[in-house]
Formats: sequence, C-alpha cells, structure tokens
Amino acid sequence: MGNIPQALIGALDGAEYVTVLTGAGISSESGVPTFRGKDGIWRKHNPMQLATPEAFERDPKLVWEWYLYRRGLMQGVHPNPAHLAIVELERRYSRFLLITQNVDDLHRKAGSLELVELHGNIFKVRCSMCERKLSEMPELEGLPPRCECGGNLRPDVVWFGEMLPHAALERAFEAAAQCDCMLVVGTSAVVQPAASLPLIAKREGAFVAELNYEPTPLSHLVDISLMGKAGELMPLLLRHLEAKGD
Ligand code: OAD
Repeated sequence: MGNIPQALIGALDGAEYVTVLTGAGISSESGVPTFRGKDGIWRKHNPMQLATPEAFERDPKLVWEWYLYRRGLMQGVHPNPAHLAIVELERRYSRFLLITQNVDDLHRKAGSLELVELHGNIFKVRCSMCERKLSEMPELEGLPPRCECGGNLRPDVVWFGEMLPHAALERAFEAAAQCDCMLVVGTSAVVQPAASLPLIAKREGAFVAELNYEPTPLSHLVDISLMGKAGELMPLLLRHLEAKGD
C-alpha cells in the first residue's frame, strides 16, 4: 500500500469522535469545477455579479440562470471514491460528523448520514422574503420563480456577505471543538468561518490532517499535510485503517 503516515492511521484508529471537513476539491474528480484553481469558477466569473444578495436584487434572472447552469452540471455527476471512502469511515465511528462547504449534494448521494452543509444546497430553494424552504424547485413559469407569498424564490445557498445557517454552524463548531481527529479534504481553507474549524480542532487537542492537491495556508499549522488526489488518498487511508483493525 502507498504512503500514509503511521501517525495518521494511529490517530484515526484511537479516535472516538472523527470529523471531516470537505471543500470543492473532493468533487473535482467527479467533474465539478473548483472555485480557485487554474480553471476555477471565480477565475472566469465575478462572484460579486452572481453570488451576492445585491446581485440577486439587481438581476434575479441572471443569478437564476447561473445557478440553473451549475445545477445542470451537478445533476449529471456521481460521487467518486473519496466521497465513498467518507461513508465507509463514518460506519467505523459512533461519533462522526461530515462538514462540507459544497452545495453539490454528492456526499448525500454517496450515502453520508451525519452531514452539515455549511454553504447550503444548490438543489434546494427558499423564499427571499418569507424564508419558506422548498426541497424542490417549483414548476418554472419564468425567472425568478415566485413563492406563494409573492417573494422571489432563490437558491438555498450562502452568498458572499451572508451569514451561514446558524444551526449548521453551531453543530460544526461544536464538533470541531470536541472531536479527536479531523480530516480536511480538498479545501483551499481561505473562506471563513469554515477555514477556522481545523484550527479550533487543533487548539482543542485533536489530531488534524489535511489532504489536498497542493499546499494551503493550513498546511504548516496541522499535524500532517498529505499531497495528492482525494480520490486516491481517501480510499488508501481507509484500507490502511482496515488493515490495522484486522
Ligand atoms: P476552492 O476552489 O477554493 O479550493 C479547492 C481546493 O481543492 C484547492 O486547495 C485544491 O488544491 C484542492 N483540490 C482540487 N482538486 C483536488 C483533488 N482531486 N484532491 C484533493 N484536493 C484537490 O474550494 P473551497 O475551499 O471549497 O463558497 O472554497 C470554499 C468556498 O469558496 C466555497 O464553498 C464557495 C467558494 O466561494 C460559497 O459559495 C459560499
């Protein structure tokens, strides 16, 4: 088997409570573009025109077109071995939480159960006026779709300048503070408050490991930083863990 540091296997093997924080990098091998890489979404599009409450107020049709386009991209993709390895990892622990910044629904499709979506879910919709939530898009009679109350419906995702959903954030912070081991997979770790979760885990005594394609601002702050593809590293990590338990 390839090179996974013993310290990480040991930390996972001895842990009672494990958390995993994921970002766009975990879905890149499924074909979902990341935000900040070479071909990243925010290299080609200005988030201020597409992903802010002001942009939605100014041009809700444009924002909806952008989100329908992204939904279309995400609808046709499937979980990859990294998503599936996290499902297997969850089965090993009685206390486990997966915290994702992704809105693509791939963790749920893979079968993850204890899941917090910090930035919402692109397939869900809510009213920008009465805050009513819908798990599916209503029949479209033009953009933007309307709520029963007359307000504009919007994608149930977090935009720049907006607060994260309170319950999700609280659960994520609590888990970071309480876990014994945290894996940070495929995130550039530059967007707050998600980026501070590994630091909280570390401060409170957890073993924190990063798995990423390239170094991030977290790399020198965590216990181990593994460079490689999540779709290869995560299944490998799981195999090492299973071998240790045999
Ligand atoms: P980014 O696009 O900022 O970062 C993706 C990270 O994944 C980078 O560090 C890549 O090196 C790494 N990566 C890419 N492919 C990988 C692979 N196959 N295996 C391992 N690592 C890989 O995405 P996020 O960190 O998720 O917010 O960005 C955070 C937030 O910024 C997003 O949730 C989004 C965005 O603006 C909102 O929309 C609110």
